[in-house]
Amino acid sequence: MAIVPRQSVQIIALVLLSLWPAAARAQDAEAGRKLFRRCAACHALVPGPPLRAGPHLDGVVGRAIGSLSDYSYNGSLRNAGRAGGTWTEERLSQFIADPRAMFPDTKMNFAGIPSDQERRDLVAFLATLGDPAPTRPAAR
Ligand code: HEC
Repeated sequence: MAIVPRQSVQIIALVLLSLWPAAARAQDAEAGRKLFRRCAACHALVPGPPLRAGPHLDGVVGRAIGSLSDYSYNGSLRNAGRAGGTWTEERLSQFIADPRAMFPDTKMNFAGIPSDQERRDLVAFLATLGDPAPTRPAAR
């Protein structure tokens, strides 16, 4: 075995460590893409027809809550967005865990995903989607 100077070993270790989070995140997003099957019946990934039961999720991370002008939300989501609320990764995870705990009157008929890991994967996937849509709540 070649003798590798101790310093190079440390540098290699540092480089590998710095790459690790990105690699782990890509893996999460790939797992999340598969988990999205649970959402796909009601949510498109891109704007436009055919319209589904729920709003499209293009650019949802950073988007104002309940803000798509061509979707008829429940009042509590609309109001949350009008009050300045946006979908952060953390808030999305909380919502997906138990939608009715956050918005008791939501029409999203979904029991929730209890697993932290699955929600992390899903949110990592959602964060890869499109450009944020206009974050200004739509006038109505
Ligand atoms: C049975 C249909 C259905 C399923 C399954 C479903 N949703 Fe929804 N979702 C809805 C509906 C309907 C709304 C609109 C809620 C309202 O206005 O009360 C919604 C709203 C949302 C919103 C808010 C979007 C915005 O523009 O503010 C997010 C985010 C979301 N869903 C994510 C998910 C994710 C992620 C999954 C899968 C884990 C999922 N949903 C599964 C029907 C569904």
